[in-house]
Amino acid sequence: MATYLILLGPPGAGKGTQAKLLAVEAGLPHISSGDIFRQNLTESTELGKQARLYIDRGELVPDDVTIAMIRERLSRPDCQAGAILDGFPRTIDQATGLDEMLAAFGSGVDRVLYVDIADEELIRRLSGRLVCRAQGHIYHQAFNPPKQPGVCDVDGSALYQREDDKEATVRHRIQVYMQQTAPLIEHYRQRGLLSEIDGEQPVEAVTRDMLAAIGEGS
Ligand code: AP5
Repeated sequence: MATYLILLGPPGAGKGTQAKLLAVEAGLPHISSGDIFRQNLTESTELGKQARLYIDRGELVPDDVTIAMIRERLSRPDCQAGAILDGFPRTIDQATGLDEMLAAFGSGVDRVLYVDIADEELIRRLSGRLVCRAQGHIYHQAFNPPKQPGVCDVDGSALYQREDDKEATVRHRIQVYMQQTAPLIEHYRQRGLLSEIDGEQPVEAVTRDMLAAIGEGS
């Protein structure tokens, strides 16, 4: 039976950081809708050109485009045992689209890990975030600095600041999250699938709570 986990939370809550760690612990692929869009931006694909119009403004890419992209990704062989979804779904329509695609695989959402965190902490985190060019490894100038400034510890590639991490865009992304994504908290709580995780703890403590919530904690 495949396992599908969702990481839900505002921009900068630590979803990407945790998804990479959980992927190793749970032995499941990490599927980040934001990373797939950014990869397409870098490669200047048609999808990338379409997505750029929204991402640079801090808006959501339209549901039909996003759902089709995730359906294609989840159909690949490496997702046969399930996946850790980071940044998808982000609207009620995307959640419905996900239910339909998982039902077609004879499966469903197993657990939604909602990372709860205050807005001001999000601004601090995103304004200091650095991401590696090669594989998207995540750092923070103050909270999780690389050993050598500007260089990824894991693969040696250059670190950069995301275009959408400018403060004005971050504030808009948080508003978009409140309007379009936050309703998913209640949606999944009512279905008994939600686990609330305190996202303001150190990275290791957040991971520990997530593993406990999915029944893999010690
Ligand atoms: P996406 O890439 O998904 O961005 P996001 O959801 O806004 O989330 P972030 O990547 O900004 O933050 P995160 O929660 O992963 O935090 P991180 O671990 O990096 O989406 C980007 C754009 O793509 C969207 O705006 C939209 O346009 C489009 N898009 C994507 N998915 C879409 C969808 N489904 N539908 C439509 N459009 C979509 O951590 C942040 C920082 O904090 C890092 O520096 C990290 O080192 C640090 N940190 C993490 N944890 C801790 C901790 N516990 N303590 C201290 N520091 C920490």
